[in-house]
Amino acid sequence: MSDKNTVLIFDTTLRDGEQSPGATLNLAEKLEIARQLHRLGVDIIEAGFPIASPGDFEAVTRIAQEVGTLDNPPTIAGLARANKTDIDRAWGAVQWARKPRIHTFLATSDIHLEHKLRISRNECIERVGEAVAYARSLCEDIEFSPEDAGRSDPEFLWQVLAVAIQAGATTLNIPDTVGYCTPTEYRRMIEGILKNVPGADKVILSAHCHDDLGLAVANTLAGIEAGVRQAEVTINGIGERAGNTSLEEVVMALHTRKAFYGLRTNIDTTQLVRTSKMVSALTSIFVQPNKAIVGANAFAHEAGIHQDGMLKNPLTYEIMRPEMVGWNASNLVLGKHSGRHAFSDRLKTMGYELSREELDKAFERFKALCDKKKVVTDADLEAIVADQFETLNEVYKLDSINVTSGTGSSPVASVRLLDEEGEAHADAALGNGPIDAICNCINRITGANAKLTEFHVHAVTEGIDAVADVTIRVEMANGEGRKHVFSGRSADTDTLVASGRAFLAAVNKGLRRTRIRV
Ligand code: KIV
Ligand code: ZN
Repeated sequence: MSDKNTVLIFDTTLRDGEQSPGATLNLAEKLEIARQLHRLGVDIIEAGFPIASPGDFEAVTRIAQEVGTLDNPPTIAGLARANKTDIDRAWGAVQWARKPRIHTFLATSDIHLEHKLRISRNECIERVGEAVAYARSLCEDIEFSPEDAGRSDPEFLWQVLAVAIQAGATTLNIPDTVGYCTPTEYRRMIEGILKNVPGADKVILSAHCHDDLGLAVANTLAGIEAGVRQAEVTINGIGERAGNTSLEEVVMALHTRKAFYGLRTNIDTTQLVRTSKMVSALTSIFVQPNKAIVGANAFAHEAGIHQDGMLKNPLTYEIMRPEMVGWNASNLVLGKHSGRHAFSDRLKTMGYELSREELDKAFERFKALCDKKKVVTDADLEAIVADQFETLNEVYKLDSINVTSGTGSSPVASVRLLDEEGEAHADAALGNGPIDAICNCINRITGANAKLTEFHVHAVTEGIDAVADVTIRVEMANGEGRKHVFSGRSADTDTLVASGRAFLAAVNKGLRRTRIRV
């Protein structure tokens, strides 16, 4: 539903969100997230940047074909720079959706025009007019973004936006690309556009804010107060640098303060926590405990006075009920007597729709876990599924790991990997510790020269039989010597095995990326 009292939610987790260092998602993971975004009720999914790589093109195409054709489908948008080649590629991918959108952009700030694009203001205007008109000749629904609008000269910005409207843009997105604006400035920018750009009241204005000063949500809400009716957001606020506007925070601000804003969204708020957990699991980006709405402590009351008040009446300290955003949805646990049906049902409730083959593999891992652990919780299942997605498209598969360590001797690891042809490669290496030895060994075999930059281990549940969930980030240089960050995650009751698998998963992503670019 869309009217002047509805704020459309444009989710860019799979595009801007995936630009977070190390957050690379594979096709299966992107599809899984896109399906969940549909359940959540987002109006537009920006599925990727089709020109960026063959993998991006394929992902946007598949999302357009599979999620863009479901009942009551979201609009599927693909990003394109303001040129014909990018626009053709974006259209090639989104055209399969029932509601396709091309999102084209060009910077308008003098800093970007002079130093990045090296074009004049006149050339910028010309390119915008041509690109938007060309995109509109292919697709009815065109979004235009003047990149770095927040630092652009207002009068020039108005001129560019007027040209975009004349050329056929249906949504004008106003990015604060570097997260520089304050809420008052952002609100005034939108008011200025509505006042000075002919036809601005006939198109949808959109807010796209980055969080470099921690103001992305405040700026988006200020834009909404001024007349913006589309919010560009990501799950958990992930994205370039400090991230984007967090979907859950904007949605719950509008929902909880409905009397103030007088606006609604099409979001099913009970799906928020589930979606947040899925995105965190598949991107390996943790949500801080004190994060609003979806952080583990968002509804935890610690102080005695608060607890006393809560017992007397939850309204004393709670402005939202946790159930409204999907907390406490279920405390169900599975165990070794749980069958395949209960297992697959539980995964579905958590938002995962696995294929038959994926389900078989996950069920096998679940049964193996039940032999080691009495009760298996949602958190264990999330770790199993995330781990399984990590092992798709592997360049090297882990066959075995053995480590010897202890007092008085240097730790030594021996690792055997299988390449894509099934050929075995084995080696042994020393290290400062057992994990260092495993990483050295994997580097020797694969030649990846990956540098471990982050290592996190956490027990998924309590108890001595807990599964260790290991997340690793590595830095790898590409052919031109530029460093990229890749993350890997694995869960196992043996911390060393989980560490080796997580490191290999990150290395595999780096090797795969390099291969595609070559
Ligand atoms: O931040 C930005 O300017 C963007 C545009 C491509 C919309 O992400
Ligand atoms: Zn952005």
